[in-house]
Amino acid sequence: MKNLKSLIAYFSRKGNNYVGGSIVNLTIGNTEVIANKIQELTGSDMFEIETVKSYPKDYTETTNVAKKELRENARPELTEIVDDMDSYDVIYIGYPNWWGTMPMAVYTFLESYDFSGKTIVPYCTHEGSGMGSSERDIKKLCPNAKVLSGLAIQGGSVKSAAGTIKSWLS
Ligand SMILES: Cc1cc2nc3c(=O)[nH]c(=O)nc-3n(C[C@H](O)[C@H](O)[C@H](O)COP(=O)(O)O)c2cc1C
Repeated sequence: MKNLKSLIAYFSRKGNNYVGGSIVNLTIGNTEVIANKIQELTGSDMFEIETVKSYPKDYTETTNVAKKELRENARPELTEIVDDMDSYDVIYIGYPNWWGTMPMAVYTFLESYDFSGKTIVPYCTHEGSGMGSSERDIKKLCPNAKVLSGLAIQGGSVKSAAGTIKSWLS
């Protein structure tokens, strides 16, 4: 993928989260840690998917908001768009596994562009569910894109995942 223009788009939530069985306060979200590592390794541009309405810092409150959004098939409004999406060939899309799939903000993001002919490379962080149904869900949202196999990394392992990411990228 060396001569292709690539973008790392990711959603990641800072604040209290379960990591390896206990609540910790993440100042950098797990998915953002991986996004930064992919950026170091690929030199891709970066874009953070952020919602107009932010999620609670509290873990349980966030799970309740996220469950409601999933049940309602919501499309939370995003703060910014990628101006020049047309110029990218490859999009690394990163997110936490929320209730077995992507946060609904990632649905909003994926529905905002035409990914025809582009390659989408998904990855997620999680606490046991791996990619869940997210790869299938991305294929449904972006039927004309080539969606590669994703990489799932457990939240507690993000800081030591450099080797895994490197071999996945190659
Ligand atoms: C709302 C919510 C729902 C979650 N649902 C799942 C889940 O279904 N399966 C799972 O393995 N982990 C789940 N998790 C754990 C996150 O996927 C995990 O902590 C992830 O690393 C968080 O990434 P972030 O720090 O980038 O936001 C959930 C976390 C939250 C906040």
